Amino acid sequence: MTTLLEVQDLSAAYGRAQALFGIDFDVHAGEVVTLLGRNGMGRSTTVKCLFGLLRPQRGCIRLAGRAIHAAPSHEISRLGLGLVPEGRQIFSNLSVEENLVATARAPRHKSDPAPWTLQRVYGLFPRLQERRRNQGWQLSGGEQQMLAIGRALMTNPTLLVLDEATEGLSPLIRQEIWDSLSRLKQDGLSQIVIDKNVKPLLKLADRHFVLEKGRVVWSGKSSQLAEQSQLVHQYLGV
Ligand SMILES: Nc1ncnc2c1ncn2[C@@H]1O[C@H](COP(=O)(O)OP(=O)(O)O)[C@@H](O)[C@H]1O
Ligand SMILES: [Mg+2]
Repeated sequence: MTTLLEVQDLSAAYGRAQALFGIDFDVHAGEVVTLLGRNGMGRSTTVKCLFGLLRPQRGCIRLAGRAIHAAPSHEISRLGLGLVPEGRQIFSNLSVEENLVATARAPRHKSDPAPWTLQRVYGLFPRLQERRRNQGWQLSGGEQQMLAIGRALMTNPTLLVLDEATEGLSPLIRQEIWDSLSRLKQDGLSQIVIDKNVKPLLKLADRHFVLEKGRVVWSGKSSQLAEQSQLVHQYLGV
């Protein structure tokens, strides 16, 4: 079991508003991990710290043994962290194909798994191939999310981070997204997934970290969380 990402004692604030109070979690290679919690509990703030979009006040973030908490965003991306941001943030005036090509980056090492290509992304999301000449703004929410995932994959990440993976999508499209994440997991891609739908997360993920007001208040495996309906209700409100 290799540790891919290690977060220790991470604290962060927006001005004087403290958002994270020393959180710890880790991701093993090949694992899918979730950050769970109701709105405003610190999940996106954690993501911002991972990607260098918010400087932590304290703590340590290591990716494959390398400290990244002081590195600039482009360097963090180059080191293998791929982001599917909240709200998708695709280029609305570029075509699907241009969006994908815009973020393409060669794998870091020759020994890395087969690199992501347009064809491979289209294999995962055939809908994107049909829409490849359409501009971002012409896509449905589900297609935009597929594009956001495809774009992150084109950077050849070793760890994919999805903030609100299926927010605002219809049940059918949500299921397509869950299926695609499950296929990526089968291919060995490590993931951190944030989403409000606990049931599909129990199926997809290996371990969970529950955040409450900027602290990790529970962590454990899917089998353990599935037995904790009281805890799920208390911390996730479902
Ligand atoms: N840009 C910001 N400026 C000030 N406070 C923020 C900002 N973003 C988030 N917060 C606050 O930080 C806390 C954690 O928010 P966030 O990490 O976005 O929660 P989550 O993603 O779990 O819903 C909340 O109290 C939220 O109001
Ligand atoms: Mg959020």
